[in-house]
Amino acid sequence: MALTEEDLKTIPEDGIDPENPGKYQTLLKDLQGNILNGHGRDHIVHLFLQFKSGQVNAVKRWIQNFAQKYIKSAEQQSDEAREYRTKKISGGIFANLYLSCQGYEYLQIDPWKIPTDQPFRLGMQNSDIQSSLNDPPPTDWESGFQQKPDALLLIADDNLTDLLKAVKEICSELSGLSKILHREDGFILRNAQKQIIEHFGYVDGVSQPLFLKRNIASALTNNSDFSKWDPRAPLSLILVKDPNGKTEDSYGSYLVCRKLEQDVQKFRQEVQNLAKQLGIDEALAGALVVGRFEDGTPVTLSNLPSQGMTSTNYFNNFNYDLDTQATRCPFHTHIRKVNPRGDTGRVESSPGFDEALKVERKHRIARRSVSFGEQDCTKEPTTGSGLLFLCFQADIENQFNLIQTRWANPKNFVQVNVGPDPLIGQPQGTQKWPKKWGGSISEEYGFKLPVKMKGGEYFFAPSLSFFKNLAITKF
Ligand code: HEM
Repeated sequence: MALTEEDLKTIPEDGIDPENPGKYQTLLKDLQGNILNGHGRDHIVHLFLQFKSGQVNAVKRWIQNFAQKYIKSAEQQSDEAREYRTKKISGGIFANLYLSCQGYEYLQIDPWKIPTDQPFRLGMQNSDIQSSLNDPPPTDWESGFQQKPDALLLIADDNLTDLLKAVKEICSELSGLSKILHREDGFILRNAQKQIIEHFGYVDGVSQPLFLKRNIASALTNNSDFSKWDPRAPLSLILVKDPNGKTEDSYGSYLVCRKLEQDVQKFRQEVQNLAKQLGIDEALAGALVVGRFEDGTPVTLSNLPSQGMTSTNYFNNFNYDLDTQATRCPFHTHIRKVNPRGDTGRVESSPGFDEALKVERKHRIARRSVSFGEQDCTKEPTTGSGLLFLCFQADIENQFNLIQTRWANPKNFVQVNVGPDPLIGQPQGTQKWPKKWGGSISEEYGFKLPVKMKGGEYFFAPSLSFFKNLAITKF
């Protein structure tokens, strides 16, 4: 029996177990991997494709073969992860294929069978989207992003040699069929303690909505309970029915992709300037920008890093209930802007705390970003390095776009004159900072934006059964 809407909206208490999938079996077999849980490979090549005109049938055949050979389902991803944990056998190449709205049109899919999300239909270059996100005009984007891609191919492996060999083969197969508009070679950046970080040096990927049993169990081990922040999420947060799927439980997810260049030197300089102005040390100044210290310690809980935490024990069971005036973790800090953990329930117009929190949690996104550029994390690049920001969701307008346009950018969220998110708020502005941790918020400082948007697009990750029947289906 097909899953019901209610099934999708309900959070199974312990999460979904791909090893014992029950009613989710068909869904997990037909859903591309990397959506419910990151694929975990260290090296990732991203190819932004524009298919050549007059090659529709050949492109369809190529996608069908590619899906058979390389794209892994959520079920396969879990099987391979188990083999790796128990026998150290690598799953090898992992691939995903995502289509833009233009890609669906190229493949001559009936308009009513193209996923319906409005920003997806319009594309990231659309002038209304661009002005609502406050993005630079596409003419200022990196040249490879100035043309619209039909598809994004993600190919990943832990073994870089094997990966580059597979990418070379794939590029040669594609040569008559597609132009490669842009290639982005990404990787998982780690610090000396092997923790996953982004280029500014902060551990990343700590707070995520969780769907699978293993992830929920490990979050419970790290946080002992979910009393202050529950990371569990229903599948409806990120999955929607694939209108072209061939099974009763064929699902897909919308992917937002943005190339965000990070000026590391500028960030460090700005943190130094801020520390001087506030009369505090640089570690705390950085935490007042990001919301966590470099090691992941939330600044709302501590004015020092590593309070009772080990490198593998990131703390995520917290909220801002004891910091409602934002004197420890300012409202503008990156993590408080993009996940207010209940702050929206404290404003006057709110329908009540619990109700507001319920709505607020529906805006969460599943981040799957990777770093690009400089791989030596002791260097301080000014250009050419950054985050290829990737996130999955069921509703772009209500999730990524809302976070960027209604929370990160505006200076008046969740109170007046908070200022924009100092990492990603566009345009940059002035924030209010506490003179000392826990003290009154009286200092004004405009943190100079260290992140530049270089291009991007909205995609859909269709089900495997759509791809595997593409050349033999009439649309
Ligand atoms: C170069 C740009 C960015 C950098 C350097 C960055 C960095 C970070 C860091 C260090 C964390 C804390 C670790 C964690 O909780 O996982 C974080 C969390 C997060 N970021 Fe970003 N980020 C960037 C862009 C974005 C964008 C564009 C969005 C969405 C609009 C976003 C959404 C989030 C969310 C939702 C969290 C989790 C917050 C929480 O649940 O507490 N980030 N980011």
